[in-house]
Amino acid sequence: MKAPVPFRLNGRPASLDTDDSRKLLWVLRTDLGLTGAKFGCGAGICGACTVLVDGETVRSCITPLSEVRNREVTTIEGLAHDGALHPLQQAFLEHDGFQCGYCTPGMILTASSFSTRIRRPAARRSPSGWSTTSAGAARTPGFSMPSKPWRGRKEASREPGTEP
Ligand code: FES
Repeated sequence: MKAPVPFRLNGRPASLDTDDSRKLLWVLRTDLGLTGAKFGCGAGICGACTVLVDGETVRSCITPLSEVRNREVTTIEGLAHDGALHPLQQAFLEHDGFQCGYCTPGMILTASSFSTRIRRPAARRSPSGWSTTSAGAARTPGFSMPSKPWRGRKEASREPGTEP
């Protein structure tokens, strides 16, 4: 159905007047020019298209635009603030948390969501959700989720003099 779809995108108001059954991934990439989310499997499996909706990971390749109406969408382009990379982006750079980099935006957003959840005890979930399947395994066989950047990010956010 063609109808205006208001939402917030990377902290700013957005509204599109388009078929609201279109998948969010293609709206982001083709209508809004945000190409950080990638097309991998197109079936909600690989995680290359991951974005955050209200802070939770969402596979944008299978999410209709209608589902983000009046919600907050965050893409990898929205993670940095005031010209400074998000600590997880910085950690991925410092620890070479890439192979080809195709899945990296999805991995970083997944790590960001996980990081936010573990800071909210009521919403704490098992770290078992941290896997190649949930965090990104689009095109890189045998590639496990890079843990060094994650550890590096934890180190960076730890208060001086506190236990890890
Ligand atoms: S492209 Fe969306 S999960 Fe693979």
